[in-house]
Amino acid sequence: MRNELWNDARAMNHHEIIGGILRTEFNKETVERLDMSYLGAKIDSWWAHSHENFNSQIGFYSLQSLILEFIKPSHLETLRNIGQAEKRIAAVLLEYMFSQPDKNLALLVHEVMAQIVGLIDIKYPYEEHKELFPKEQAGGAVDWGKGLGIIRPHSDDLYEDRDINIMSLTVCKDISRTPTWFWLLKDVVSCLTDEELGQLASSEATFFSGTNVEGQGIQVKKPILRRDDVEGLAIRLDFRIDNTVGPRMRSEDPAVTAIIEKMRVGLKTLKPLASNPSTGTVAFLANFKILHGRSQLNPVMLYEGESSRILFRSKGIK
Ligand SMILES: [Fe+2]
Repeated sequence: MRNELWNDARAMNHHEIIGGILRTEFNKETVERLDMSYLGAKIDSWWAHSHENFNSQIGFYSLQSLILEFIKPSHLETLRNIGQAEKRIAAVLLEYMFSQPDKNLALLVHEVMAQIVGLIDIKYPYEEHKELFPKEQAGGAVDWGKGLGIIRPHSDDLYEDRDINIMSLTVCKDISRTPTWFWLLKDVVSCLTDEELGQLASSEATFFSGTNVEGQGIQVKKPILRRDDVEGLAIRLDFRIDNTVGPRMRSEDPAVTAIIEKMRVGLKTLKPLASNPSTGTVAFLANFKILHGRSQLNPVMLYEGESSRILFRSKGIK
């Protein structure tokens, strides 16, 4: 019945009904925050015995079997269902997975958890995306993972031909204590009427690559609506304004541009969900179900330069 209503509304381009259906779907999405300290204690003690003769391949399998042996079945179930329309889990924030700010350990936990979740990392030739740290020469560059400035709400890689639908972020160390921020779609669109939401979802936008892409920039026009058999309904949004490229999402339709700007203003009044910026936080998010970003980095980081804040990121398909 719902599918028929959706198809009829789309066929008639009935914005108010489309917007209403989308809002109902977005309202079901949630974020789960899990205390993983029971597993973190096991990982810490394993690392205390393993780190001296560290071998990344053996370490991977050894840690993988430890995690699979001790992780609570309900936690495993949650992780494997991220992004699926039936389960409505837009993001999972795992806290206290490990406590040593060691890059080898953080990368190992990051990779094992990605494997457990089923995330296949996609590496682009023009971007080193896995290890994130503030580049001192980037100064106050905004909307860039290696800059020190604010990163406005966005989904990743909308300018790529292929949709990446899942990403993960592991905190190795962060003396600036800057959390990653998250915004569920239901909150991002809360300032819009159903009519406006339907109009937005019925149109296209051009998405531009930013400073992260070396060499020639990429741009691609795509429908704002994303419909996937497994993941359900979502919309593509990017509120970043790159220092050189400008707005990363643009519409040729002035009415749609006005709707995007209305959301941009609305976002300023929303309180985002914040991750725990401590060592050992591992976040997984469904790229289209929840937007991410962060505030500008606390200048305390400058005391330790590029090693003040080290995160590992994967982005790919599930
Ligand atoms: Fe991002």
